[in-house]
Amino acid sequence: MNSPSLSVEIAGVSLKNPVIAASGTFGFGKEYEFLVERERLGGICTKALTLKPRKGNSGERLYETASGLLNSIGLENPGIEYFLERELQSLKELGPAVIANLAGSSIEEYVEGARLLNESQVDMIELNISCPNVKTGGASFGLEAEPAFSVTKKVRDVLTGKPLMVKLSPDSCSLTDVALACINAGADALSLVNTFKAVAIDVKLRKPVFKNISAGLSGAAIKPIALRMVWGVCEMLKAKKIKKPVVGLGGISNTEDALEFLIAGSSAIQVGTATFLRPQTMTEIIDGVGDYLKTNNLLLSDLRSGFGDYS
Ligand SMILES: Cc1cc2nc3c(=O)[nH]c(=O)nc-3n(C[C@H](O)[C@H](O)[C@H](O)COP(=O)(O)O)c2cc1C
Repeated sequence: MNSPSLSVEIAGVSLKNPVIAASGTFGFGKEYEFLVERERLGGICTKALTLKPRKGNSGERLYETASGLLNSIGLENPGIEYFLERELQSLKELGPAVIANLAGSSIEEYVEGARLLNESQVDMIELNISCPNVKTGGASFGLEAEPAFSVTKKVRDVLTGKPLMVKLSPDSCSLTDVALACINAGADALSLVNTFKAVAIDVKLRKPVFKNISAGLSGAAIKPIALRMVWGVCEMLKAKKIKKPVVGLGGISNTEDALEFLIAGSSAIQVGTATFLRPQTMTEIIDGVGDYLKTNNLLLSDLRSGFGDYS
């Protein structure tokens, strides 16, 4: 049997395979020039982009935990205009789909950012709704259905030619409600999960490691919980007969992890923290999924067949 095709379409965007570099762990791709065969990836999510440049957080920014990583980068980025003028072209030339991760601290800021990206060559926008809304006391947009709906709808309204994928926060107590609200507001796809809010304490200093007290937990430690959330969202979409693709992530570190997320209903997957440990993880997964399909005489779409045509 010939090698089965790994190509997949997410919200109208063709990816040559279902493996995407996760936002914030791949910069704008340059850093990995000599470490990863970047042109082989299905897609690259940019670091979060905001309307104005941001310096990010001071103090400790990264801290390793058992099988995990805490980060408190604070959305450091050069701003959307800089990205469009100085980074986008070289990223596009690499070949993988370019997915711009859009962040903001108010709905107005998200909307202005979306307007700029709408006019650009990016292939898709990934709306990062884990950011705090400064106008309503700092609760993240992604925790409740209502603010998630509002920001998704306002961004969707200004995007005339770009698909919108909304990236969900695992810290929501009503994740499936938030997921449904985003779909009802016009999201073309969902990605999940972002990092989990978590704390580390320095016992020598007897105080929290991070200035903001909490930070975001990622890596292998979160995988089974992320998988449960992906499964739950895919089941909800199936039950409601909503045909929207889900991109699963959270702790994926090897082919077997990736297969688990695909079997749980994801149409594609993202890899983040594992790339820090083993830069070749994503290309190994591309090869590994191809081998698995060939050995088992399956098509990529067969993996999530438990979810029918939905999700
Ligand atoms: C250092 C670091 C920076 C991150 N920055 C962003 C970001 O800018 N925007 C975003 O949506 N997610 C960001 N994330 C979250 C990842 O994209 C991903 O959702 C999360 O880490 C879970 O996947 P993983 O366990 O494979 O890393 C960041 C994660 C890490 C570790």
